[in-house]
Amino acid sequence: MSKKYSNKLSDNLWETIIDRELSLAVSLLNDDEVVAIPTETVYGLAGNAFSKKAIKKIYDIKQRPVSNPLIVHVSDISKIDDIAKNIPPIARKLLEHFSPGPLTVLLPKKNIVLDEVTSGLNEVAIRIPNHELTLQLLKKLDFPLVAPSANPYGYISPTKPMHVYKQLGGKVPYILDGGTCTKGIESTVVGFENGNPIIYRQGAISIEMISELVGDVMVRDTEKEKPLSPGMVPHHYSPHTKLILTDFIDVVAKQYDADKIGIISFKEALSFIPKDHQIILSHEGDLNEAAKNLYNALHQLDEMDLDIIIAEKLPNYGVGKAVNDRLTRASYTKE
Ligand code: TXA
Ligand code: MG
Repeated sequence: MSKKYSNKLSDNLWETIIDRELSLAVSLLNDDEVVAIPTETVYGLAGNAFSKKAIKKIYDIKQRPVSNPLIVHVSDISKIDDIAKNIPPIARKLLEHFSPGPLTVLLPKKNIVLDEVTSGLNEVAIRIPNHELTLQLLKKLDFPLVAPSANPYGYISPTKPMHVYKQLGGKVPYILDGGTCTKGIESTVVGFENGNPIIYRQGAISIEMISELVGDVMVRDTEKEKPLSPGMVPHHYSPHTKLILTDFIDVVAKQYDADKIGIISFKEALSFIPKDHQIILSHEGDLNEAAKNLYNALHQLDEMDLDIIIAEKLPNYGVGKAVNDRLTRASYTKE
């Protein structure tokens, strides 16, 4: 249950409910089951990071290729030593500044980390999610949690419990309801080569925020190289409805039947399209608010049986870049 439904509940009763929900999640996870968990970025499909059985369930439910590794979620920086051989100074600096938060670091793995988690790679992806419920959950477990986004492989990530329920409902025994994700876009994945940070997946922490802290940072050009992260494959994060990404939504929209298109615009509506077919990501023109609302907008329009969704490119800086990255992938045509 999320707190917005519970204004009338006393603090004691509220705590009892949370305790019960957490206990249920704990017992399922102790039993090699999977549980959908809230984070500040998107909902994750979580399981015991040391359980081959739980990991297999995650891959099966998501129908995700096993060549795509999983992020390990821990409750604080001290827990990283259990699974990583060392933390390079720049990684530590980033972790200390951004954790808990939407930062995932790639670190050399200890043997205890299963190959099933890293898809055989020598590095393990680790992050400390910034969500009170999930941090409490992690503290109640004696193992970390692997958690990819709780959506079928290639589709839109969930930012609300209902998104998980609609996409994976029958397959996931429990969804821990932590309300709407506050960031709404996945964590930024950062690796390190010769002591230098490299961004493998753009995300809720912008490139600018990272370079402000540690200087210049490279971003892997995903178009030219063999993808190293599944988040780097061209077609990903996609609705079922065809999506066009453009700087000129008004021009593109005029080419289609107004009743059969959906519009995702940054801050202004189009006058010639029905209001209920349009979603404005941020009336204020705030990039963080736009990122928070993006996946929900895609989920909503994707349910409307439209011919096409036309999305407006965001200004290409800050988290706008990560949003444009997701929309670009969502707009690739499936083979
Ligand atoms: O915000 C997030 O990171 C969410 C929440 C639930 O924590 N999780 C998430 O997981 O987005 P997933 O599995 O959907 O995406 C994980 C990304 C992928 O791009 C994956 O390839 C990359 O992290 N990754 C994981 N382990 C890796 C590794 N060992 N080396 C390189 N990339 C890795
Ligand atoms: Mg994902």
